Amino acid sequence: MKKEELLQMLAEADTYVSGQELCEHFGVSRTAIWKAIKQLEKEGYQIEAVNNKGYLLQENDDMMSGMEIARHMETTSMGKNLFFHKETGSTNVDVKQLAEEGAREGTLVVADRQNAGRGRRGRAWISPAGESIYMSLLLRPRCTPDKASGITLVMALAVLEAVQELTGDIVGIKWPNDIVINKKKMCGILTEMSTDMESIHYVVPGVGINVNQTSFAEDIKDTATSIFLETGKKANRSRLVARVMYYFEKNYEIFQKTWDMSGLLEKYNGFLLNRGQQVRVLDPKGEYEGVAQGINEKGELLVEKDGELIAVYAGEVSVRGIYGYV
Ligand code: BTN
Repeated sequence: MKKEELLQMLAEADTYVSGQELCEHFGVSRTAIWKAIKQLEKEGYQIEAVNNKGYLLQENDDMMSGMEIARHMETTSMGKNLFFHKETGSTNVDVKQLAEEGAREGTLVVADRQNAGRGRRGRAWISPAGESIYMSLLLRPRCTPDKASGITLVMALAVLEAVQELTGDIVGIKWPNDIVINKKKMCGILTEMSTDMESIHYVVPGVGINVNQTSFAEDIKDTATSIFLETGKKANRSRLVARVMYYFEKNYEIFQKTWDMSGLLEKYNGFLLNRGQQVRVLDPKGEYEGVAQGINEKGELLVEKDGELIAVYAGEVSVRGIYGYV
C-alpha cells in the first residue's frame, strides 16, 4: 500500500474510516496502516484517530505539499513530473537546471518559499512562505524562437481560468501577462528561454500567484492584491497549482496547432481589461496614447492611434492605463 493511496481513500470518505476497513481494503496489518498514517502526519496532514471509529482526514484550507499537488493533478503530461521544495532560490532557475540535465516537457517545480525570486526587468520577486504560489514549468516547443513569446500569454490565460473558479468574474488580464483584480496585480509571469538561431532548447514560464496574503508592504499595497484580500476566503494552493496545469495543458494543445494565439484569441481578448481603454504605450522610442483594441494572433496588442492600428510587441514596451496601472 502506498501512502498516496491511503490518503486518497481518507480524502474521499466523508466520515471516519475504521482501521479494520483499511486493513481489509489494502490487505495489510493494522501496524502498517498506523505507520502510513504517521507518515502522512509527518507530511503535514492532520488525521484524527478515534477509538472504535477510526481515522478522519481534517480538511486543511491550505495544505501545500508535493503529495497534495499530485493528488489534485488531472493532467496527462503537464505537472506530472513534479518537484516540490519547502524553500529554494528561484523555481525558474531550478527548472532551467533540470532542462539542462534533460528533464522532460511538463516538468514542474513548485516552492513554498523562494529566497532569490526573480521578477521581470531584473526586479526581485519577494517570495515569503505560507501564502503564495511559486511555480515554473518546463516546455520544449517545436517552433521557431519568434513564436515562443505566445507561451506567456497561454500561461496567463490558464492562471486566469484557474483563479476564476475561486473568484468569479472579477478577475482579468492586463496585457500581456499580469492577472488583475480590482485594478491590482495578483499574479506575475516571468518566462525565460534557451534558444539558438533557429530552434528552441526550452522555455520556462514561471508564475507567482498571490493567494492568501492578508496584507502587502506599504510600497506595493496600492498595486498588489491577493485572492484572499479580494474574496475574503483562503484558498488551497496545492489545488490551485493543479488547476493552473489543467487549463494550461488544454490551452497549450490549441496553441501548438498553429504556434500562435489564433485559436485562443477570442478567449484571451474576452478577459483583456485594456480592451477599449485609453492606454499609454511606454515605447523607448517615444511614448504615445491610443485605444487598445485587443491582441492579434502574434499576441501583440493592437492600439489605435489617430485612425492607425499599431501592433505593440511586449518585449519592447509596456502599457499603462492613463489613470493608473491598468
Ligand atoms: C513579474 O515581475 O511580474 C514576474 C514575476 C514572476 C515570479 C515567478 S515566482 C516563480 C518563478 N520563479 C521566479 O524566480 N520568478 C517566477
